[in-house]
Amino acid sequence: MPAPMLEILPDKPALVERGLTLVVETIRSTVANQGYCTLALAGGSTPKPLYSGLAKQDLPWEKIYVFWGDERYVPVNHPDSNAGMAKAAWLDRVPIPLDHILITPTLEGDPSASASQYETMVRAIFGRLQGISPDEVPEFDLILLGMGDDGHTASLFPHTEALTVSDRLVTVGNKGSDPRITFTVPLINRSRRVIFLVAGADKQTALAQVFAAEADDLAFPSRLVRPHGALKWLLDQSAVGDLNLPQPLSQPEETI
Ligand code: 6PG
Repeated sequence: MPAPMLEILPDKPALVERGLTLVVETIRSTVANQGYCTLALAGGSTPKPLYSGLAKQDLPWEKIYVFWGDERYVPVNHPDSNAGMAKAAWLDRVPIPLDHILITPTLEGDPSASASQYETMVRAIFGRLQGISPDEVPEFDLILLGMGDDGHTASLFPHTEALTVSDRLVTVGNKGSDPRITFTVPLINRSRRVIFLVAGADKQTALAQVFAAEADDLAFPSRLVRPHGALKWLLDQSAVGDLNLPQPLSQPEETI
């Protein structure tokens, strides 16, 4: 497991621009190398301008498969839907085949059933692309993540059952009483690349704990993200403040 690479950008627009560059580079190189690219999106607000930027790119859309690392338990047309946000900003504006856009099921009225259904959908695509067996954990080419001001990521919230689920790819997360559908830690950590996008002074306290030598992983779940592949944190200066972050800082010209 390689050490995380950190890049500190002056502000959120610069972070988004850097994230866009890395995502485009990853898609292009991965499609060139293996003929397709599997990508899981972050929700929340930070990635929205990055998705808008992707809508303006010339990419091999028919070779890209898009999933969501987590989803609120609402219909796609609900204002809180992560899929709804990404569709409006990006996916409805480019010719990705509809069956390559794996929207999290959220209409079953039973979050556990929806989580199992999404796991089946993920396995079906990776079974076709990689011939994985039913007991294998699929390897995404890139997973985008955000981090909440409490240190959660995806819908892996502090001190919730979802944090310790190890026998599934997808499970039910809980933000208080709100159910969410989320990738599990093993699925995230199987990824070839993970990029965190973290901006804003409200993230400083959690960031200090996530990068602390000693802290409770269950209290700050982003600490659980230790992918076997590459991990890059894109941080804006306001999120970092005067934190003394681990080195090395990766150089702007580096890809992930
Ligand atoms: C969600 C997310 C969540 C998000 C963080 C950061 O569904 O909300 O996936 O993990 O990435 O809460 O959100 P912001 O980017 O809005 O700060």
